[in-house]
Amino acid sequence: MESRHYGIIYINATTVRAPDGRTYMLKELVLKNRSYRGFDESRKVTEGELKELVDMARITASGANLQPLKYHLITGGEELKKMNELTKWGKMLTQMTLPHPGQFPTAYILVLADTNICKEPKNADTDLGIAAQTILLAAVEKGLGGCMIANFDKAAASAIFPHDSTLCPILAIAVGKPIEDIRLVDVGEDGCTKYYRDENDVHYVPKRKLNDVLV
Ligand SMILES: Cc1cc2nc3c(=O)[nH]c(=O)nc-3n(C[C@H](O)[C@H](O)[C@H](O)COP(=O)(O)O)c2cc1C
Repeated sequence: MESRHYGIIYINATTVRAPDGRTYMLKELVLKNRSYRGFDESRKVTEGELKELVDMARITASGANLQPLKYHLITGGEELKKMNELTKWGKMLTQMTLPHPGQFPTAYILVLADTNICKEPKNADTDLGIAAQTILLAAVEKGLGGCMIANFDKAAASAIFPHDSTLCPILAIAVGKPIEDIRLVDVGEDGCTKYYRDENDVHYVPKRKLNDVLV
């Protein structure tokens, strides 16, 4: 069912249909939306696909509706190579370097704070979280996935594209076709939230139990 209002199409639906014909509920998308650190490099991501992801993010909530976030799309070439070098992955897994060779993401969305709109980039943090999660959920809906990367060389990242200094890189969102097995587990008695991998490279992410987050 569809209704039109000021040129925007609102679709009244609780479920969405993925390109493979499956119907996803929000919980399934949230569950599938893990931080992936291994990708099928043969699956390129197009600029059109990234634009669709940003098109979702740009209509989400924004403090005072300032909308200070800008997006630089990277789908290949030197910029992709550079971003793969500048990003730091899975720092809790000290015994390995991720992504494994041949498993790098094939695209990035570099999120920038426009300091003409929002003087202090930190003030865009809540908007950033909303936008980044929306982008990744939309990626999962397309059969893709990714990882938010805050740990990257931001000065070097701003030098890879010809923008003015008022745009400040604040988050890199890696995008690609995930090939990892990631499982959620309850946080144990020791309270440790560190993610870990087994000998088969299965990635485990401890999550606090519902009763432990209700206060
Ligand atoms: C704001 C933010 C920044 C993050 N930065 C990094 C990063 O720099 N490198 C990385 O490998 N993972 C990064 N992550 C991913 C987290 O490690 C991941 O969310 C956490 O381990 C839980 O896993 P899950 O997303 O699958 O639930 C970041 C996540 C968030 C929300």
